[in-house]
Amino acid sequence: MLEVNGLTKHFSSGILQKQHVKAVDGVSFRIKAGTTLGLVGESGCGKTTIGRLIMRLIEPTDGQVLFDDIDLLTLKKRELRKIRPRMQMIFQDPDSSLDPRMTIGTSIAEPLKVHGIVPKHERSQKIRELIKTVGLSPEHVNRYPYQLSGGQNQRVVLARILAMNPDIIIADEPTSSLDVSVQAQILNLMKDLQKKFNHTYLFITHDLDVVRIMADRIAVMYLGKLVEIGETHDVFGYAKHPYTQALLSAATRMKPGAERKKQTLLKGETPGPIDMPSGCRFHTRCPRKKNRCMIEEPELVEIKGGHHVACHFI
Ligand SMILES: Nc1ncnc2c1ncn2[C@@H]1O[C@H](COP(=O)(O)OP(=O)(O)OP(=O)(O)O)[C@@H](O)[C@H]1O
Ligand SMILES: [Mg+2]
Repeated sequence: MLEVNGLTKHFSSGILQKQHVKAVDGVSFRIKAGTTLGLVGESGCGKTTIGRLIMRLIEPTDGQVLFDDIDLLTLKKRELRKIRPRMQMIFQDPDSSLDPRMTIGTSIAEPLKVHGIVPKHERSQKIRELIKTVGLSPEHVNRYPYQLSGGQNQRVVLARILAMNPDIIIADEPTSSLDVSVQAQILNLMKDLQKKFNHTYLFITHDLDVVRIMADRIAVMYLGKLVEIGETHDVFGYAKHPYTQALLSAATRMKPGAERKKQTLLKGETPGPIDMPSGCRFHTRCPRKKNRCMIEEPELVEIKGGHHVACHFI
């Protein structure tokens, strides 16, 4: 179980005038072991920052991350090093995750070596096994990343991650640099691996089609905050927040032949996380806006088993 409570990250930026970017501003959610939470929202809303905070690649301003009831943010360096292999992050671009000077085999061997996961004499057997698990063939072992396709390289990244035997995988747009057909293969592979190893996924994406396939639950984020969270079926079928509704209708509009009814178009630009609107941060673009929304910030409220929405007018 992964639990995030009130997670907050404010970056300071600007040389002359210090400005605070509220990248993540009090986010809470839970992911049950072996399930997937999809995290969606526009560019810059704070998705990657959440991933990096959970991994403790950056330090939070405030909040708590519990992993099987262990408070990750208070762990000392040594304890953190012990627990680290159990949590892994996949990034958007496989090319930047693999060392171009290392063969695929060496690349997969590295985590096995560093973490002493299998004895030396069993290492090449383990590499062959991992290669097979991710759907590559033994002949790939001696190749370099540039000799493989993007999809094959993302498989190598997965093999490296599996080498550590993780419980939690944070996947940050893991397929967005791939062709649609290859994308589907990698997503299927990730689903199969989850079934086999009972991985817990935090799946970050812009793509609502992808999240619909991958996620048991979906969290929708707007300017550093969650505006809606619930079972995938509820969020897609009964979206309550005007922002979620707008995202969904924008996605349907882009599909050829999709019905053109009930369009909730978002007006205006997304405000920056520096000049955050008062009250409900979505009010500047909200079709339902009333005076109260400019003053009072709505809390996430449960409207039905596990379906939470942050809006004064639901
Ligand atoms: N190191 C940093 N210093 C200052 N601001 C940062 C830093 N990292 C991220 N930000 C800001 O925090 C906000 C959230 O960034 P983040 O990368 O988490 O967004 P995102 O939702 O992952 O976007 P995308 O979908 O484009 O990947 C952005 O406004 C970004 O400019
Ligand atoms: Mg990102």
